[in-house]
Amino acid sequence: MSQAKVEFFRHNIGPEEIGDCVRTLESLFHTTGPACARFEADFARYLDVKQVISVASCTTGLEIALKALDIGPGDEVITTPMTFIATPNAVLYVGATPVFVDVEPVSANIDPALIEGSITSRTKAIMPVHMYGNLCDMRQIREIADRHGLKVISDCAHTVEGRRDGFGSAGLAEMACYSFYTTKNISCGEGGAVATDDDRLAERLKQLRLHGMSKGAADRYRGLYQHWDMVELGAKGNLSDILASLLIPQLPKLAGYLARREAIARRYEEAFQSLPGVDFPRVPANTVSSRHLFTIWVQQRDRFLHELQLRGIGVAVNYRAVHLLSFYRTKFGFQPGDFPVAEKIGDSTISLPLYPRLGDDEVERVIQAVREVASLLATS
Ligand SMILES: Cc1ncc(COP(=O)(O)O)c(C=O)c1O
Repeated sequence: MSQAKVEFFRHNIGPEEIGDCVRTLESLFHTTGPACARFEADFARYLDVKQVISVASCTTGLEIALKALDIGPGDEVITTPMTFIATPNAVLYVGATPVFVDVEPVSANIDPALIEGSITSRTKAIMPVHMYGNLCDMRQIREIADRHGLKVISDCAHTVEGRRDGFGSAGLAEMACYSFYTTKNISCGEGGAVATDDDRLAERLKQLRLHGMSKGAADRYRGLYQHWDMVELGAKGNLSDILASLLIPQLPKLAGYLARREAIARRYEEAFQSLPGVDFPRVPANTVSSRHLFTIWVQQRDRFLHELQLRGIGVAVNYRAVHLLSFYRTKFGFQPGDFPVAEKIGDSTISLPLYPRLGDDEVERVIQAVREVASLLATS
C-alpha cells in the first residue's frame, strides 16, 4: 500500500480555537469588535510594542502602513525581489515605485551593503522582508534609514517569533506588518496586523483600515448611535471578530509551536549538512529564527520538485524572483541578470514541510526522499 502524502502544511486550528470561534458566531458582534481588540492587546504584549492594528491581510497592512506615512505617487520605496508579490504590489497600490535591491546569498534577505546605492531624492522608505523566519540586519538598515531620513516598514509575514541582536521582530521599524494567512506560524485563513510604537500612526492606521472613517462599528454602536465622518480615502481592510477569535488562543501556544519547528529544522539541517548538491540558508548569528519555512537550494529545481512530489512529499516554491514575473518585466523592463543573487535563489529554491503537527516519521520520509532525489539527479 502506498504511503499517505506528507502534506506541505497543516494548520494549528484545534478544538480550543474552534470553540472560541463558535462562541463569537453565537454572539452579536461578528465584525471588528471585542475579539479583535483582545487579539490586538495580546499580540502587542507578545511583540512588546505599544499598539497592534488588526487587518484583513498583511498585504492590506503594508498598503495602509505606506499610506499612513503619506507615501504615494512620485515616491520610491526600497525593497527586495526575493519576496512574495504582496510586498512590491503594496507599493504600487499607493502609487509609489518599488526599487529592488539584491539579497545576501546566505540568508536571501536584502543586502544592507547595496541599499545606499539605490537611494535617490525620491526614496521615502525601506521595506525589508525577513525571509523564512530570519530577521534582516535591522541595526544596519535602521542606521542607513536614519542617515537618509527614511522610514522603515518591516514585512514580518514570516517572522512573528523572530529576534535578532536583542530586538523582536517589530523592532527598529516605524511599523511591522504580519500575516495570518493559512500557512503562517499562527493563522486564521486570511488575516494580518500592523504593529507600531507610534500612537499617531496607530490612530491613522485604524482609520485607513476602514475606508478612512472616523469611527469603526464598535464605536458607532457603543451607547447611543454616533455619526461618523470620512476624513481620507482608506482601504476596506479590517479583520472580523470571527477570525480574531481563532487567533487569540494560538498566541500562548507560540513558544511550544516554535520549539517543534526548531527541532524539525535542526533535524533537516543535520541531515542535509553534507549532502552533495543540497544547500540551505543559514540562520544569522544572534538570531532566534521563527523557522517559518525550511528551504533547500538545489540544481535542476523543477526536476527535483517533480521527483519529491512523485515520492508523496508536499512542496512549495518561496519564491521565484518577483522582478522576472511577467507583470514586473513588462511594467519596468526588468531582465534576467538584474538581481543575480535573488534570481539564483529563485531558480533553486524548494520549501519542505515544516509545521508543528509534522510527525517524526514524516520528517524522516522527507529526508529520505530528498536524499534519493539528490542522488538520482547527481547521476543523471
Ligand atoms: C513575505 C510575505 N509578505 C507578504 C505576504 C502577504 O500576506 P497576506 O497573504 O496576509 O496578505 C506574504 C504571504 O504569503 C509573504 O510571504
